[in-house]
Amino acid sequence: MTVSHRPTILLTGATGYIASHTWLALQAAGFAVVGVDDFSNSSPVVLDRLAELSGQTPVFERADVGDAPAMKAILDRHRIDAVVHFAAFKAVGESTLRPLAYYRNNVGGLLSVCQAMLDHDCRRMVFSSSATVYGDPARLPIREDFPLAATNPYGQTKLIGEALLRDLGIADPQWQTACLRYFNPVGAHASGRIGEDPRGTPNNLMPYVAQVAIGRRPRLSVFGRDWPTPDGTGVRDYIHVVDLAEGHVAALRRLLDERGSFTLNLGTGRGHSVLEVVRAYAAASGREVPVEFVPRRSGDIAACWADPTLAQTMLGWRARHDLARMCADSWRWQTLNPNGFVGS
Ligand SMILES: NC(=O)c1ccc[n+]([C@@H]2O[C@H](COP(=O)([O-])OP(=O)(O)OC[C@H]3O[C@@H](n4cnc5c(N)ncnc54)[C@H](O)[C@@H]3O)[C@@H](O)[C@H]2O)c1
Repeated sequence: MTVSHRPTILLTGATGYIASHTWLALQAAGFAVVGVDDFSNSSPVVLDRLAELSGQTPVFERADVGDAPAMKAILDRHRIDAVVHFAAFKAVGESTLRPLAYYRNNVGGLLSVCQAMLDHDCRRMVFSSSATVYGDPARLPIREDFPLAATNPYGQTKLIGEALLRDLGIADPQWQTACLRYFNPVGAHASGRIGEDPRGTPNNLMPYVAQVAIGRRPRLSVFGRDWPTPDGTGVRDYIHVVDLAEGHVAALRRLLDERGSFTLNLGTGRGHSVLEVVRAYAAASGREVPVEFVPRRSGDIAACWADPTLAQTMLGWRARHDLARMCADSWRWQTLNPNGFVGS
């Protein structure tokens, strides 16, 4: 099927952190967007911000993606050319405590979306996967053909999602899917109007550091200073969320060109330690970020960064923003919205 009109993309989890940035990137690239979210981990205020930033009224449907009749009705109402499936629960620690909720939402939601797509003859999907599918990699940088090993229920749901899409493609080659394995998304839109808004205690490093810098939390606990890394703290591949959003645009363009399914790392190819992030954040904010060292957490790994070569080759995409810019944009978001969207 060749798409001759302005392609319409359905974003699930549309008001979440990565999807909201992707929504703007897609509109800027000329796509029409329909968003779906149940606000289980986001705020309706995001829709106001998207309207303000894009100058367009967002086309939005409030629904749980696991609600099959609701998804069918949404695809009845809108002619969708491709889906970007972001909707999922994402907290690794919580997934070990509530595995059923994670399997139900992340696997059940994907099943329901794929069924609705099949029923409407829409067979192109970009799926939010994660670097967590590599487990504890034996070598670095991580290439897409490395062994896969999920070490927690959240990671399992991503592996199952990838397998499900692979099997759909085997059963019917008209399915064209892109599994994008994100490394560590951070930062915010340059306007400071949308960004990551964690509920409760942040699970990820940069939002936590942001809250320490602004004085909401007294200090950062650094888990382990005896990792086999240059400064003894954990190393990750942080990628600016705007670069990640552009990666989705590039992946969709390729899918709509019907050149087959693919699985890609979206990372920068550079690792930064916890202490490097803390120093960069302190420089960007002009604030102190006190740290305390505590023992390693079980399940953590020493270091993880991507080999992004395949994404560069296949999509002509590469991450452009450096750590200083990631911190500066995060800090702008944090200072303009000290209590996130709720306080706005
Ligand atoms: N942020 C990361 O570090 C990271 C890393 C790798 C992969 N991912 C994946 O990327 C995707 C987006 O992550 P994010 O960081 O933007 O998370 P997020 O929580 O900000 O966004 C997810 C959105 O999905 C919505 N949602 C959840 N379940 C839903 C359901 N059943 N029906 C409708 N909406 C639902 C939430 O309300 C939220 O708005 C997720 O699939 C996540 O697993 C995230």
